[in-house]
Order: sequence, then structure tokens, then C-alpha cells
Amino acid sequence: MIDFSLRADQPFNSKTDVVAVAVHENQRLSSAAEDLDKASLGALKAALKAAAFSGNCGKLLPLFNLPGISATRVLVYGAGEANMLAAKDARATGRALAAAAVELELAELTIFPLSENAVDAMQQMVMGVSDATYRYDETKGISAKAKPSLKRVRFSMPAAAAKAAPAALKVSVATIHGMEFTKYLGNLPANHCTPTRLGEEAKKLVKSHGLKVTVMDRKAIEKLGMGSFLSVTNGSDEPPRFIVFEYAGGKKGEAPTVFVGKGVTFDTGGVSIKPAPDMDHMKWDMSGAGTVFGVMKAVAELKPKQNIVGLVVACENHINGKATKPGDVFTSMSGQTIEVLNTDAEGRLILCDALTYAERFKPRAVIDIATLTGACVVALGSHNAGIFSNNDALADSLIASGKKMNDRFWRMPLEEDYQEALSSNFADMANVAGREGGAITAACFLWRFAKKYDWAHLDIAGVAYKGSGKEKGASGRPVAALVDYVMARE
Ligand code: BES
Ligand code: MN
Ligand code: ZN
Repeated sequence: MIDFSLRADQPFNSKTDVVAVAVHENQRLSSAAEDLDKASLGALKAALKAAAFSGNCGKLLPLFNLPGISATRVLVYGAGEANMLAAKDARATGRALAAAAVELELAELTIFPLSENAVDAMQQMVMGVSDATYRYDETKGISAKAKPSLKRVRFSMPAAAAKAAPAALKVSVATIHGMEFTKYLGNLPANHCTPTRLGEEAKKLVKSHGLKVTVMDRKAIEKLGMGSFLSVTNGSDEPPRFIVFEYAGGKKGEAPTVFVGKGVTFDTGGVSIKPAPDMDHMKWDMSGAGTVFGVMKAVAELKPKQNIVGLVVACENHINGKATKPGDVFTSMSGQTIEVLNTDAEGRLILCDALTYAERFKPRAVIDIATLTGACVVALGSHNAGIFSNNDALADSLIASGKKMNDRFWRMPLEEDYQEALSSNFADMANVAGREGGAITAACFLWRFAKKYDWAHLDIAGVAYKGSGKEKGASGRPVAALVDYVMARE
């Protein structure tokens, strides 16, 4: 794990492996670069000129042995035209700087952010460092690589940012710890990351952090009357788990925020089986649950003065002789009956019972997170997750946190007009409507179970992972937005 810290040294006297300073377009120097140039008697400017450094965001120029500079190595990073970095650019810069430090096999990197918006930029750079240094190697076997060399990242903050920096850094570091945990669980193959394993990981997390957790098995889930959740487990040999995290940082009896995560550890589709291409992606169908794990980890580290509950519904959607058949009807914990017309619309079937369970906490807000529909991916692609909510203020706060962290949500409609498509002649509702508005009708299904509190549903099917290429893997989204949402209430 990388150690992040703050210091107040100068770019020219910083005793570190490598110093990073910003240069704008047209080789306009940031104040840190200016200081460095002066101390080196113009060597920095001369090097920029010789290299024809563009100063575009994302560009790096490594320099070595500049005269009059304590650090042997300097990384100049492009900062574009403006006097501050946008969130996206700051993150990319953090990623590029960390990657360069790793490439040079260095242990310590000291970054000088631009003075404007320095705290926000630092937070994004921490995430960029995490992007560049995160490794999945649990099942890589003999091809697992050595850990990256980078051990310490320091931020030398401008004076104006000194006051806000420590708390902000703490939040960012907890955020990446959460995100890295979310990625780890997501990237584990489904034969490793079973519901049972999730239950074990929950207990381990609690041991190291002082949270409380209850891990329920099939018997306990039956006792709760979660007939809809259990219908999804019919076709699988993997026993289900219902996990309840409780963090009590607030006053006794204060209404908690409840996070609910879809934890389908593999989604074959069941009898309504999925096509073969890309079916491996369905190991990430527990990313909502992974997000809850990540948020709870960050919360336990940050210890906000709030009460927070995390619910994880974990099972496998598989197919065998006992599997649910299209047309089967089940009774949910709420008493409402459901005709399962498509066994591949299983996420809503497990979440609805958790939403009913959430009532017992008399929550101030319930936020569910789920890789719920392919339709949401069609609608929004992979940059924004969908957000549906019965409360505008709740939606606005989540959207604001998403914007700030560049972990974005786009509001989608939640309207009664769409409910009719879910009607059934054989139950209170069907679990699917037609192809039209598939992400919306899925949200409408959940809404029927979320009438007693303020609620938001995050459809993260498009953002939770990259499905191909060199970066194939979990993204850790939307942990950053949700941790910011929690901390914004402190
Ligand atoms: N887990 C899938 C949704 C999904 C699709 C996640 C693509 C990530 C990427 C979900 O359980 C599902 O299969 N949904 C169906 C719903 C349909 C049957 C109404 C879908 O989106 O096709
Ligand atoms: Mn499915
Ligand atoms: Zn699914």
C-alpha cells in the first residue's frame, strides 16, 4: 500500500527521488516551476525549449541532474492553458506521474500541484496514482509481476491550501483503499468470488476495522421470507448470503443512510440463458455489492459521525434441474407476488427483498447500486451511470458528488406511466416489461419496494468495469462518488 503525505518543502530543496512540477502551454511556468527554474539558473526553461515541450495536459518531460536542485530527477507535467486542472486531467496527470516513477523504479514521488484548486487536484491525483499502481495478481499464477516500486507519494501544497489539505487527503486515501477493495472483489473470478467468499470477506473487513457485520445463510434468509431473492438461488449449488454491515458513528437512534448492493457473483441468465460471447463479464455482476464493500471500508477508515448500513444480497444466477422456469411465481418479503417471465432479470428479484429489509432501519435514505440492465449501457454508455430517485434533493446531492469526483451519474425518469408495462395476469407484477425503456422499467420494479423512504437507484452496468483491452477489469466506480456523498454530510 502506498503511503501518501503532505509536506511544505520547495521544489529545489525537496529531498526526494523525483519532483513533479507543472508547466502550461507556451512554456508558461507554474510558480513551482518558476522556483525550480530560478534555483537551476534557467536550466529548466532551457530544457523545455530544447524539448519543444507543449505543456498539453497529459504530457510529461523527465529531466535529470538539473544544476542547483536537490532531487536528481524532475518530472515536468503539462497543465494546459488554464490555471487549474479539470478533475479528469488531474487524475490523468496523477496516473502518468506514478507510471513514470514506476518506470524509473523510484520509491518516492513529490508532486507540486497548481495553486488554484490544489486540493481538488490532489484528490484526483491520488486516484490517478491508484489507477497506475493497482495490480490484480490473486490468480495470475507464475506470471504475477513484482509489486510496483513506488512506496511514497508526497504533495507539497501551496500555502492557501494548507488548511484544507490534510482532511481532503485522508478522504482520498480512504477512497482509493475502498476502490481497490472493490476492484479486487470484482476482478476475482466467479469460482473464487462466491457468495460464501463474500461473507468471509465481510467478516475479515469487520475484524480489521471495528464495524459490525451479520452474515446470513439460506436458513436465515428463508426465515426472513425473502422468497424473491431465494427464487434466484434455485438453480445454483452455491449457497446464498445476505450480509448486513452496521457502522454506528452517529447518535443512537439517528436515521442511517443505507447502501444496498447487487451481489450476483455470476449471472448465466438462468433458463433464459445468456449468449456465450462476453459471458465472462458476468463475474462483475456483483459490482454493486463490491461498491458497498468499498464504501464500508472507506467509512470504517474515516469514521464519519453518521450511522451507515450496508446490505449485500449475494447469490449466483445459474441453471440446473431445480432452476426457476419462466412463468414461475414467487412471493417477495413485502408480500407482493412476482411472475418471473425472464430469469435473466434477476438483479431486481434479489434487490427488492433487500429494499424491504431496509425498512427496519427507518433510514434517512436508501441507495441501491447494481449492474442492473444492459439497457442502461445502451442509453448512457460507459461514462455516466444511471440514477433514478423518488427524491430530487437526494438525486441532486449524489449527482453533485459524482461531478466533483468525476464519477458521474445521469438522471433518468422514474414515473408511474412506465409501471403499466410490468402488469401480470398471474401475480402482482411481472419481473420484466418489453424491450423499450428497459433501464426505466427495471427501476420502476424496484420502486414498488421503496415506497417508505427516500431512495435512489444507481444502475452501474456500464461503468463498473471495462470489458476488453489492456485495461479489462473493475473500475472501482462509484465508490469515490458515494464516499464524497457521505463526507459531504459531515
Ligand atoms: N447483469 C445483467 C445486466 C448487465 C448487462 C450488466 C450488461 C452488465 C452488462 C442483468 O441481470 C440482466 O441480465 N438484465 C437483463 C434484463 C432483461 C432480461 C430485461 C438485460 O439487461 O438484458
Ligand atoms: Mn441477468
Ligand atoms: Zn445480472
